Amino acid sequence: MRDETYDLSWDEWDELQSPRPDHTDFDDVVETALSRRGFLSGVLAFGSGAAVMGAGSLMSTTSAEAATSRIGFKPIPIATDATVHVPEGYSWSKLVSWGDPLFSDAPELDHATGGDVAWSDRVFGENTDGMELFTVGGRQVIAVNHEYVNTKINLPQNEGGKVASADDVLKLQNLQGVAVFEVAEGDDGWSVVVDSPLNRRITHNTPMKIAGPAAGHDLLKTEADPEGTMALGTMNNCGAGKTPWGTYLTCEENFNGYFGSTNAAFALPEDYARYGVKAEGRYNYEGFDPRFDVSKNPNEPRRFGYIVEIDPADPTSTPIKHTALGRFKHENAAATVAPDGRVVVYMGDDERGEFMYKYVSNGFYTPGGDTSTLLDDGTLYVAKFDPDGSGRWIELTPTTTGMSEAEIAIFTRVAASKVGATTMDRPEWVAVNPIAVEGYCCLTNNKNRGIKTNAGGDETPAVGPNPREANKYGQIVRWYPAEDNHTSTDFSWDLYVMAGNPTVHGDAYGGSDNVNEGNLFNSPDGMMFDSTGLLWIQTDGDDSNEDDFAGMGNNQMLAGDPATGQIERFMTGPNGSEVTGLTWSADRRTMFVGIQHPAAPFPDGEGKLARSTIIAIKRDDNAMIG
Ligand code: FEO
Ligand code: CA
Ligand code: CA
Ligand code: CA
Repeated sequence: MRDETYDLSWDEWDELQSPRPDHTDFDDVVETALSRRGFLSGVLAFGSGAAVMGAGSLMSTTSAEAATSRIGFKPIPIATDATVHVPEGYSWSKLVSWGDPLFSDAPELDHATGGDVAWSDRVFGENTDGMELFTVGGRQVIAVNHEYVNTKINLPQNEGGKVASADDVLKLQNLQGVAVFEVAEGDDGWSVVVDSPLNRRITHNTPMKIAGPAAGHDLLKTEADPEGTMALGTMNNCGAGKTPWGTYLTCEENFNGYFGSTNAAFALPEDYARYGVKAEGRYNYEGFDPRFDVSKNPNEPRRFGYIVEIDPADPTSTPIKHTALGRFKHENAAATVAPDGRVVVYMGDDERGEFMYKYVSNGFYTPGGDTSTLLDDGTLYVAKFDPDGSGRWIELTPTTTGMSEAEIAIFTRVAASKVGATTMDRPEWVAVNPIAVEGYCCLTNNKNRGIKTNAGGDETPAVGPNPREANKYGQIVRWYPAEDNHTSTDFSWDLYVMAGNPTVHGDAYGGSDNVNEGNLFNSPDGMMFDSTGLLWIQTDGDDSNEDDFAGMGNNQMLAGDPATGQIERFMTGPNGSEVTGLTWSADRRTMFVGIQHPAAPFPDGEGKLARSTIIAIKRDDNAMIG
């Protein structure tokens, strides 16, 4: 099976491991979804009043709103070609692509071989994803995730992209993880500062400390680490975040796929099922690196699925896995500081029917003060949405779950199921509005909604913030914490947008009223606010431009105004790619955007390998861009 799976997305790969049932009664229900008009009025009724729903809930963009639009660019049409498009008055250029040297001892990428293992940890890695820019002593430093690999591209000489040696595995391990590197803008635009003392690669083999309630627990001990406090590597780093004290948060998502068993007689531990750890790994690491062979190291998968903190100012620092933030398929981490100084981190678990979480520190953040325990000592909550527009964060504690603190940290999904959390349509990025007390989460899509339980057996009814069966387009849910305080356990919620295709569907699949022929998109995924409070939305969806997805074109980035609901298309990516990862230069005159897994010939032209790439976008008049 492995041969045919190399081209799949992680989501598709996971689905292949746990297929949905052939046919259920819900398949028929899907065909009779409510009319679009009826659906919207139903959603609006949930709030029973404008105060609950907020000014922007599912609003259309009237001409009056357009006249006062905060979106300052001329929206662009869809694209289906192999390059990037931005609005009139803007330009883009390449910053860095996988295989580009971060250190001068590494050669330029050899497109015939995909590069040699010897320098694979000295170059920009594969599949750029979440990123943040930091200013360190006047230098601008980007920390960025390298989510996974495209083995047919990274191992172009291997038949089918299959790993065939320990060196192949090591090369793939080195091309993933995180890169930290200095950037600078010169007369020719932005470039990597090769050999900067701040440049660093973190891979699947970099030592990192385990902190928080699970540190030292028996379930985390291995032969190589009998104390259970030092892990090697961070994996499937998807979205990102930034702490108030200027460190980088990288989020381990589909870690399960890296593990397998070389012993057919080995019985997989029961807890593997909820996280999707199987007998066969995606890349056959287990065949060449015993650490990933669960028949030899059954605790190793339990040392992944966390959020890892990295100090971009100190290339010798040891990254820290913060188990208090829970173990699941972490998408990103949106950190903010509550009025009393407690640190709040919102997080999504990206799998069909999994949950949204919030962590609140026990300690208080003060600039320049001790931050060393703020992400290790606190309370984890999971979201429960009620269909009436209210909701609450439920504490995950020994009292509410019957599990120990360490067990909650290691088997967080199980703890959340125990308290009856709301199963969501694949929570991707969370973002916190910098100019209003509200949070947003992309619920990217969920073809199992109303059709299949999650991996823990929790039902997935089509209701509340996940209102459509077999949801193929996705939506963005927004919540308003009670008393304008992110530490509050109560909130109200609405849907900022439901993606859909009104040119194809006249029912709920047509989307909310702020979706129109001019801004069609599906599968919102990456999402960040700029400093002015505009919401930037990136997509990772079906780019076939056919049938249900006709008129949507390639994956893209849009800007949304939270106050009016207006959403406009700003950028389109090359075909085959996902647009993911966004940050800004210190002067806010450049926006850095990630292009993940484009199809060839991006960006180097015919005959070259396709390369995931960070691009820099500027206004031609060099004005600020968010
Ligand atoms: Fe790596 Fe959920 O996206
Ligand atoms: Ca994502
Ligand atoms: Ca996605
Ligand atoms: Ca991706």
